[in-house]
Amino acid sequence: MSPVGREAVNPLRDPRDRRLPRVAGPCGIVLFGVTGDLARKKLMPAIYDLANRGLLPPGFALVGFARRNWADEDFAQVVHDAVKQYARTPFREEVWTQLSEGFRFVPGDFDDNDAFDALAQTINDLDRVRGTGGNHAFYLSIPPALFPVVVSQLKRSGLSAKNGDQWRRVVVEKPFGHDLQSARALSDTLSDVFPADSVFRIDHYLGKETVQNILALRFANTMFEPIWNRSYVDHVQITMAEDIGIGGRAGYYDGIGAARDVIQNHLLQLLALIAMEEPVSFEAQSLRLEKTKVLSAVRIPDDLAAYTARGQYAGGWQGGQKVLGYLDEDGIPKSSKTETFAAIKLEVDTRRWAGVPFYLRAGKRLGRRVTEVALEFQRAPHLPFAATATEELGQNALVIRIQPDEGVTMRFGSKVPGTAMEVRDVNMDFAYGESFTESSPEAYERLILDVLLGDPPLFPRHEEVELSWEILDPIEDFWEKLGQPEQYRAGGWGPDSSNTMLARDGRVWRRP
Ligand code: BG6
Repeated sequence: MSPVGREAVNPLRDPRDRRLPRVAGPCGIVLFGVTGDLARKKLMPAIYDLANRGLLPPGFALVGFARRNWADEDFAQVVHDAVKQYARTPFREEVWTQLSEGFRFVPGDFDDNDAFDALAQTINDLDRVRGTGGNHAFYLSIPPALFPVVVSQLKRSGLSAKNGDQWRRVVVEKPFGHDLQSARALSDTLSDVFPADSVFRIDHYLGKETVQNILALRFANTMFEPIWNRSYVDHVQITMAEDIGIGGRAGYYDGIGAARDVIQNHLLQLLALIAMEEPVSFEAQSLRLEKTKVLSAVRIPDDLAAYTARGQYAGGWQGGQKVLGYLDEDGIPKSSKTETFAAIKLEVDTRRWAGVPFYLRAGKRLGRRVTEVALEFQRAPHLPFAATATEELGQNALVIRIQPDEGVTMRFGSKVPGTAMEVRDVNMDFAYGESFTESSPEAYERLILDVLLGDPPLFPRHEEVELSWEILDPIEDFWEKLGQPEQYRAGGWGPDSSNTMLARDGRVWRRP
């Protein structure tokens, strides 16, 4: 066998040693959906960044498949432009040259047998000339409605089948269906062709450093665990705010809305990581088991009218620019009931969390781009101060700043310097930028590398996806029967009903 055909194994190397970079063995990626936004803005740049960091094998191959009359060079030009515009790491000619030698393009429709046979041929050739070793990931960055045809083509053309030690994996992007039933159908489609451990579902939030840090914060330290429960935590707020509108994504977004777009996946995954018990290890199976337990203990409110809120952004001004309302965006029907903001209250019925509300909110065209998880602690049971001394004292809080200003904040009361006793909130900050010299990789760099290494902990299983739909489906059904969502001001923090929802419980949303 040629030296590139089999991964060289160094007996002195412990694969768990984090000081050694984890480098993918011989392999390639076949990308479906090369003309999409995600491919251009995230996937192609991430592949380049991995190559630039020396984490891809020298003979790595990237094959694009699309209905375009392109030659290999045209595809390379598309990747080049995407990399130049969006890559995180500097452009280096020698890295680019080496990487782009492994680019191929196969033109065709998804129902074209000949095109898939040509794809199979291309991959065989790559195994020979680039040494990809028969190991290939098929990345479906395409609408889920197209999954069945592509997956059955992969089977028919023999592309999904591997020999011996080789691997074939399929990577799927959300949305994993639009409800429980469609998610199950999707999962059946995939499992007909690929074994469960070869299916990698991307929830890019799990690839973020700050999200993985939730596990470090909780399980590598002692000081948080004793207070991480209903005896100390008053409630939890999970916010994912974006300042952008839907951009050019009307076709995807309308009919989906904020809850299906990001609560079903990103926010419920955050909830699971915050609320889960300690896994026995960080192996995929143990992690997923704990997340699954939490998701199955989530309870939605009985009164959905009182404890959910939705809104649609209105036109107005944001950051000094005039912006369109959702209903005026290109491609959105005036009668659209799709929400661009959603807030829901959830509870987790476990001994640790009984009675502690988890408030989730997500929206577009809000005050600023920020994702954070805030644990708000109960007030001190007794304050031995004059009432006037603690007027400015709020609740203690631990805020995990997922992005953009990555870090953790602790908020607690402190004496204001002076002769009188006055207590006011102060913040103590950990900022990634100050504590670490290395900048965090993009989520997609981590996740693509994990796919190529066959490392599954950061990929949700279909059980988690289904449980998340079980949580959301009754809420979506309830909203479906209502009229149009409430309009909210661009640049604000969502509709009034969202504030009323918390006010009912005597609470307020944080201003992130
Ligand atoms: C995606 C959603 O999953 O996440 C988009 O489909 C959203 O609507 C995006 O804009 C936000 O990602 P990030 O990493 O910028 O928070």
